[in-house]
Amino acid sequence: MPAKLSTKDLQGQMMSLNRIGIALTKEQDLNQLLALILTESRLFTNAEAGSLYVREGQQLRFSVSQNDVLDARKKAELKAQKKQLEVVPSTFTGFYVSLDKSSLAGYVGVTAKVLNLLDVYKVPAGKEYKFNRSFDEKNNYRTKSMLIVPMKDASGNVVGVIQLINAHKGKNIVPFDKHYENLVLSLASQAAIAIRNAMLTQELKEAYLDTIFRLSVAAEYKDDDTASHIHRMSRYSAILAEGLGLSAAEVESIRYASPMHDIGKLGVPDSILMKPGKLTPAEFKEMQNHTVFGAKILENAKAELLKVSEIIAMTHHEKWDGSGYPRGLKGESIPLSGRVVALADVFDALTSKRCYKPAFSLEDSMKIIKEGSGRHFDAKVVQAFSDNLEKILAVKAQFSN
Ligand SMILES: [Fe+2]
Ligand SMILES: [Fe+2]
Repeated sequence: MPAKLSTKDLQGQMMSLNRIGIALTKEQDLNQLLALILTESRLFTNAEAGSLYVREGQQLRFSVSQNDVLDARKKAELKAQKKQLEVVPSTFTGFYVSLDKSSLAGYVGVTAKVLNLLDVYKVPAGKEYKFNRSFDEKNNYRTKSMLIVPMKDASGNVVGVIQLINAHKGKNIVPFDKHYENLVLSLASQAAIAIRNAMLTQELKEAYLDTIFRLSVAAEYKDDDTASHIHRMSRYSAILAEGLGLSAAEVESIRYASPMHDIGKLGVPDSILMKPGKLTPAEFKEMQNHTVFGAKILENAKAELLKVSEIIAMTHHEKWDGSGYPRGLKGESIPLSGRVVALADVFDALTSKRCYKPAFSLEDSMKIIKEGSGRHFDAKVVQAFSDNLEKILAVKAQFSN
């Protein structure tokens, strides 16, 4: 019989449950969230290992795995070989278990019941579930006690399963105390809500970025640019931003905002955009207006990303020496995002075939870019370009059409 818990113990556990609940609502990144859920559940129950499955249709995806014993063993091996442990090895993730009663996780996923097993090698005959020993055999590990808990959302649907492995009392492996069952169950349902939210946020973000990308492609289709131009120039822009030492968030915002640089072409007549010959001065003026139209389409947006897009649309044809358009801005009065995209856009135009010109060789394109340093382009951006040429060329090779 487990010892009865004192009021103080119970109070302590309720408080840590509360603390975990708050921590879970703060984490927005799905993978980080899943890892946090598992870590906290293990700490709570003193489990040396655990894994977490997320439900995808009629399957459970093995999403996170943690094992202190195997990690310590790995560390010791590396230490013996005098190698540094760079990444904590996450053992054995990324496979699927079908949602049926034959496995432990599947059983809990289907029935939404808690399983608390003293020794998984001694599951009585006649049970529908069976412990799969292949992981233990492969890793020379012994799974003994296990607590397997469903993660249920507010409407009672199972969204995942948490498996906690080998509870400890000091150095000994002991069964999971019965009073943990309800505590972990309640932790798991808080986790389920946090997972649902993180998934929705992620889905919304992906839909948003996808829409932006498709809109940008629509604008580029009006002349002879292509979807690959958008792919390349957005990645070139991110590489340059990173090379200039911008923060990860700024790099990401330039990566996702730059595809919309030419969105204003939607407002330029096709007769001008697609004119094969030279444009008259009046037509050229009209063409230049794609910058102003673009900024107009994007103005007054609430989302930070669209604000950056507006700036890029307006300023990607400005030149460092003030000879660009539409406003003839000079030097640092041109926003950095505009200076970055200007180079990425020109480099891609130079190295791509257009109806009026063949693709320039890399050598010629580099020459033009370098000659433009301090005139057309910000010299710092040109430097970041030269410093990161290898990465730029890898993108060029990956998205050649
Ligand atoms: Fe443009
Ligand atoms: Fe472009």
